[in-house]
Parts: sequence; structure tokens; C-alpha cells
Amino acid sequence: MDFEDIDTIAVLGAGNMGHGITEVAALAGYEVRMRDIKDEFVQNGYDNIEWSLNKLAEKDQLSQEEADAALDRVTPLVDVQEAVGDADVVIEAVPEKMEIKKDVYTEVEEHAPDEAIFATNTSSLSITELSEVTERPEQFCGMHFFNPPVRMQLVEVITGAHTAEETLETVEALAEDFEKTPVRVRKDSPGFIVNRILVPLMNEAAWLVHDDVATIAEVDSTTKFDMGLPMGSFELSDQVGNDVGLHVLEYMHEVLGEAYEPCPLIEEKVENEELGKKTGQGFYDYE
Ligand code: CAA
Repeated sequence: MDFEDIDTIAVLGAGNMGHGITEVAALAGYEVRMRDIKDEFVQNGYDNIEWSLNKLAEKDQLSQEEADAALDRVTPLVDVQEAVGDADVVIEAVPEKMEIKKDVYTEVEEHAPDEAIFATNTSSLSITELSEVTERPEQFCGMHFFNPPVRMQLVEVITGAHTAEETLETVEALAEDFEKTPVRVRKDSPGFIVNRILVPLMNEAAWLVHDDVATIAEVDSTTKFDMGLPMGSFELSDQVGNDVGLHVLEYMHEVLGEAYEPCPLIEEKVENEELGKKTGQGFYDYE
């Protein structure tokens, strides 16, 4: 698939990342089919896109006409065949569980056009392993956006063991057309570049609090005011989703070893459904 031939994009998953990626693609002029497994999930994603576009319009970052036109290009769907049947690129952003993603790819493979590219937004899982459940591993790569996609400039484009150079070039061109900056990850490795650096930072921050070295506020103030990051480690954890961070850590722990042992503080947050901004409660209270 050449970049010039891409008109229609299917985004699988309407959660934080799925709806954000849909918004970015629609703003770039693409017809986007956004699919999730329940009407309420798709509706929630659609409402979030509408909120975000209106917010950008309120702040004069785009006109209200551009915001409305972008929303018109989004088709929310539950039917997988309708979602991917005419897609040139399928971007998958379903939960960070290998088995869920594999089931999704098995289903999508049946309905997507043979020439369509599959790009996974996984935060850390093996691109190679996912690609092997499809019949098109050379047309499969990682396309990893950051939260919130409409505000974050970077996209990691990740090479699986079977990915063709042409696929990487098409996805990099697509990321540029989304007005993002693609960075190529040359080898499939847990956490790729950014999460390999950022997720251990959030985990170490949690260990410091767990070990009574400092409070959440003290740790966050050092990250934000001394290290120069835009958010404190715990604010970032809440932004990303404590469940998402934990999934990445668990996978890094399994593949890369002991240094990545998840801190019990993060595990407790996830057990208590205190997932961060998206649930209104995480390390901080957003209600
Ligand atoms: N759409 C539109 N507006 C949005 C928005 C969205 N999706 N998200 C937030 N906003 C709005 C807020 O509502 C707020 O509006 P008000 O001013 O009206 O209250 C406003 O944006 C905040 O914007 P500011 O420009 O004032 O704030 P900021 O300069 O601090 O930028 C930020 C916010 C871009 C999120 C910045 O804090 C930042 O860059 N944080 C770091 C985020 C980060 O590192 N993300 C990557 C995490 S790692 C990851 O995602 C990968 C993974 O796989 C786990």
C-alpha cells in the first residue's frame, strides 16, 4: 500500500488512545471508522472526540467549521466487517493484553482488504508475535501514539521481525500527514524507546513513596520542577492510566527481568479501579 492510496482508516478501540487517534486522523482529512465492542464504548469515544474538537475550536487552534468537518469524517461502529471492510490502514488500540489483541487480529484478517496495512498502537507488546497471527506479517508494524494523541507530537513506528521497509515508509508518511513526528524503532523490544524509559521512571517514583523516602507531592515536585518534565511522575501515571502503565511494567518484568518489578502501590491503584484521570481518581483526585 502506497501512502498516496490511503483514504480510509479503521481504528479499533474507542478508549483513550483509540478515540484520540481517530480524532488525529479525522483532523488530517481521512474518513475514519472507529470501532469498539459495545455501543456505549463507541458513543463515549465519539463524545470525547466532540469535546476535544470543541475545546480546540474554543481556543482558536482550529475553526468551528474545521472541528465540525473532522467530526463528520468519524463513523462510530460496532460491526467489525463494516469497520475494516474498505480500510486502507487498520490502527488497533484495544486493551494491552496479548490474547485480546490476537483475537482481534484473527477476526480482522478475515474482513480487511488484502492490501491493507495493520498498525498496532501497543505500548510494549511484541509486534512480531502479534503479526504472526495474521497472513500479512510484512504489512504489519507498530504505530505508537502518546497520550493525549491530539497534543503529543511523537509517534513511534516499530519494526517487527517480518515488517517490510515499504510498510514502515508508508506508516511514517501517514504519521507525518497526521502532523506528527515519526521516530523509527529498529527492533521489536518491550516498551520500545519511550516506555522503556518512562514506565520505569513512574515505577521508581512509586517505589520511593512505597519505601517512605518521600511523599507523592515531593516526588512530583522534583520531576516537574527540577527534571524539567511537563508533569510529575504520578500525574503522568494518572494521565497514561495506571492500568496501562502496569500492563507495560508486567510485560517488561516478564521479558527483561527483576529490575522492572511493579511497585505494589501501582498494583493497588489498579485493583481499586483508581486508574487515573479516566476514572476520576488515581494518585490524585480529579472529581
Ligand atoms: N483535547 C483538547 N484539549 C485538551 C485535551 C484533549 N485531548 N487534553 C487536555 N486538554 C486541555 C485541558 O482541558 C486544558 O484546558 P483548559 O485550559 O481549558 O483547562 C488544557 O488542554 C491544558 O492545556 P495546557 O496547554 O494549558 O496544558 P499543558 O501545556 O500542560 O499541556 C499536556 C498538557 C500536553 C498534556 C502536557 O502536560 C504534557 O505534555 N504532559 C505529558 C504527557 C505525556 O508525556 N504523555 C505521554 C505519556 S506516555 C504514553 O502515552 C505512552 C504509553 O503507551 C503509556
